[in-house]
Amino acid sequence: MKKALIYGVSGQDGRYLSELLLEQGYSVVGVVRRQSVAENQTTRVEHLLSNPNFSVVYGDITDPLRVYDTIKQVKPNEIYNLAAQSQVQNSFNMPRYTGEVAGLGVLNILNAILSEGIDCKMYQASTSEMFGNSIDEDSYQRETTPFNPVSPYGSAKLFAHNLCQNYRDSYGIRVFCGILFNHESPYRGSTFVTGKVVKDAVLVANGKKEKVVLGNLHSARDFGHAKDYVRAMQMMLQLEKADDFVVSTGISHTINYLVDYVFEKLNLDRAKNLEISNKYLRPNELHLLRGDSAKFRRKTGWKPEISFESMLDEMIEHQKNKF
Ligand code: NAP
Ligand code: GDD
Repeated sequence: MKKALIYGVSGQDGRYLSELLLEQGYSVVGVVRRQSVAENQTTRVEHLLSNPNFSVVYGDITDPLRVYDTIKQVKPNEIYNLAAQSQVQNSFNMPRYTGEVAGLGVLNILNAILSEGIDCKMYQASTSEMFGNSIDEDSYQRETTPFNPVSPYGSAKLFAHNLCQNYRDSYGIRVFCGILFNHESPYRGSTFVTGKVVKDAVLVANGKKEKVVLGNLHSARDFGHAKDYVRAMQMMLQLEKADDFVVSTGISHTINYLVDYVFEKLNLDRAKNLEISNKYLRPNELHLLRGDSAKFRRKTGWKPEISFESMLDEMIEHQKNKF
């Protein structure tokens, strides 16, 4: 039985990845942070807690002693590092904290693998945010597109990405960096744009809120479904040679399109139910993401199965069922 250790198990991807790995016969240990409301620690993985092959331990990626100890005790075959302060706008308010978790935290895992001589593969959650506004002439981003991050979050992730490449090349650590483009689901946090639009639009439709308040509607993202993307993470770690891979759908939609789609589904009126506020504008914006994942698709046969529209339908249904 393969053993996986997941940092960031309580997040959106942590939930889907745990489900996938358990289905595939892995035993899974997830690291959660202590919170004063204990139930919040495991909300997204509550349904897995009774599975004998699933367990959680306390930890924090910024605490080197705890990271070393956990990796030494668990002796995983695969480590998935999904831990981060992952909200881009927040990273402008908390640049140092974001850097400590998303950047330096990764160093603790790499050093633990190295110094304990653990024979394992590692997945690092790199991101399309590292590209910033860099884009190839054909309007796609791919592994060879120069990185030029426009947020503290993107900068921290690029530092971690470079460290992983460095530990791979210098010490032979088998660390795979998945440069994943935006991916969403019914379990997406409600401060990210898809989660927010769906949640607030359903509240408006139910008469519990007057408006959906947003920032920049003109940016565009290559949105996939988290379920498809955690499948990519697991497939990546089955490859022989550690490398970096873009994971994306290749289709880009503006936030305007997202709003139109959700509003139409819920019979909302943009003039009446939508407000634009400076509060949600960022000091710097990444305008367009569209990923070319040909390298990864060629190596593994992976392709996304869930369209943006069917994902939004699923998110809307999930949100409606909460009432
Ligand atoms: P998420 O929902 O925000 O989950 C982040 C996870 O990291 C949570 O479990 C959080 O725990 C944990 N965490 C935060 N700080 C930590 C610390 N100091 N020590 C240990 N754990 C910590 O993010 P996601 O959407 O699942 O994304 C997973 C990873 O992929 C992140 O690294 C993100 O940056 C990256 N990524 C995401 C996307 C995307 O579109 N979703 C795209 C590319 C890359 P708490 O619950 O305690 O806060
Ligand atoms: N969050 C948010 N809230 N975004 C808004 C809003 C709003 O009210 N109004 C407009 N937007 C715009 C943002 O300006 C951005 O251009 C776009 O919606 C997407 O914002 P987010 O959903 O917050 O995602 P992100 O693209 O900044 O970052 C996500 O994707 C990255 C991969 O490219 C996060 O999941 C990151 O962790 C991830 O690495």
